[in-house]
Amino acid sequence: MVNIALTKGRLEDNTVKLLARAGVDTTPLLNKGRKLVVNLGSKYNVVFAKAGDVVTYVEYGVTDVGVVGKDTLMEMGRPIYEIMDLKFGKCKFVVAAPRGVDIFNCERTTTIATKYPDVARTYFESLNMDVGIVKIEGSVELAPILRLADAIVDIVETGKTLKENGLEVVANIAPISARLVVNPAALKLKKREIEDLCDILSGADKA
Ligand code: PRP
Repeated sequence: MVNIALTKGRLEDNTVKLLARAGVDTTPLLNKGRKLVVNLGSKYNVVFAKAGDVVTYVEYGVTDVGVVGKDTLMEMGRPIYEIMDLKFGKCKFVVAAPRGVDIFNCERTTTIATKYPDVARTYFESLNMDVGIVKIEGSVELAPILRLADAIVDIVETGKTLKENGLEVVANIAPISARLVVNPAALKLKKREIEDLCDILSGADKA
C-alpha cells in the first residue's frame, strides 16, 4: 500500500484526473464529501492536506509520496526528493507592479507584498536589491491597490487577476508545476510500489 498526500484545492482535480487516466479506480473520490482519508483499492490510500502540510507529512514519512506545487517546495526550502514533474498546475513566479511603475529604479526602498517571503527575499538578494517584504495570506494583488506595497511576488497562471487589478509582470522568477515528492526511506522500503506508481503516472502523462 502506498500512502499518497494530495494537495487540496487548485491541484486536486488534475491530480485525481491523472490518477484515473493512469488506471487507478478513483470512484471512491467522487462523493468523498469532507473525508480527508480515502482508500483507493488495495494499492493506494490518499489523504488530502494543505500544500505545506503535504511536504511535512512526506518529510516525516507518515505518507510515502505527495503531490505538491513547486511554489510550495521553493518557499519551504526543505530537502525533499522530487521524483517527478507532473506537468500540470503550470504557472510561474513573477514580480508584478502597477502599470508604468519602475520598481527597479526607485529612489527609496521598495516594498514587496507576497505569500512567498522566502522566494521574494532570495530573488531580490540575487539582484543585490534591498527590499522590504510584507507577508500576505492571499489576494496579494490588493496590496499595491491599497498602497501597502509597491509590487508583489506571486504566482500567475492566466494573468487575468493581474490584468483586472491594474498590475503587470515586471520580472519572471521561475516556472512552476506540480511535483511528485517522495520520502527517502519509503523509496527504499516500497521501491517497487513507488516505481510502479511513477510508471503509471508517466504513462498517463503521455497519453
Ligand atoms: C492565485 C495567485 C493569483 C491568482 C493568479 O491565487 O495568488 O492571485 O491565483 O491566477 P491567474 O493568473 O489565472 O489570474 P489563488 O486563486 O490561489 O488564491 P489566493 O490569492 O487567495 O491565494
